[in-house]
Amino acid sequence: MSTRLLALKCDITRLSVDAIVNAANNTLLGGGGVDGAIHRAAGPRLLEYCRTLGGCATGEAKLTPGFDLPARYVIHTVGPVWRGGRANEAELLASCYRRSFELAAAHGIGTLAFPAISCGVYGYPIEQAARIAVRECRLALAGHPTVEQVTFALFDDRALEIYLRELERSDG
Ligand code: APR
Repeated sequence: MSTRLLALKCDITRLSVDAIVNAANNTLLGGGGVDGAIHRAAGPRLLEYCRTLGGCATGEAKLTPGFDLPARYVIHTVGPVWRGGRANEAELLASCYRRSFELAAAHGIGTLAFPAISCGVYGYPIEQAARIAVRECRLALAGHPTVEQVTFALFDDRALEIYLRELERSDG
């Protein structure tokens, strides 16, 4: 099993990694779920900074400082809302991981943590989302040797079990 790709049950805002990824919305002005937790932990300067970014398209990603977070950076990405699987959701979710990795590599980020993007309010079935997350991160790690380690930061036992099973299944 590669030690470059891990799954843990934890609160992503507490991870001392170079960057944590936020499951944001198109305004980048905060919300509930992990977005709300990251803004609370980062403090008000994060929102001030995000106001200058002009939002973010679904499937795209933007980088900000981490401010009061232990992580140095936040990569904000906007996952697709699940609409039944026929509105290009899989490709948009894959793009969130790819674009986040591109930003990480461009900024010398060595350790990175992702939440289960789109698997909360946006309703993406987590089994399908986990398969996309693991596949895209394996490909991206191969393509970006400067990114040393990726952690999937899951927030409940079921999500952790699903990701661990997917890591095992896809480990060849
Ligand atoms: N650490 C790690 N994971 C977390 C945390 C946390 N502190 N809080 C929530 N999660 C998990 C949820 O349990 C879920 O599995 O993050 C995953 C993503 O759920 P959401 O945060 O609801 O994100 P998403 O489904 O992508 O919906 C995005 O929700 O919060 C709003 O502004 C956000 O409009 C956007 C939408």
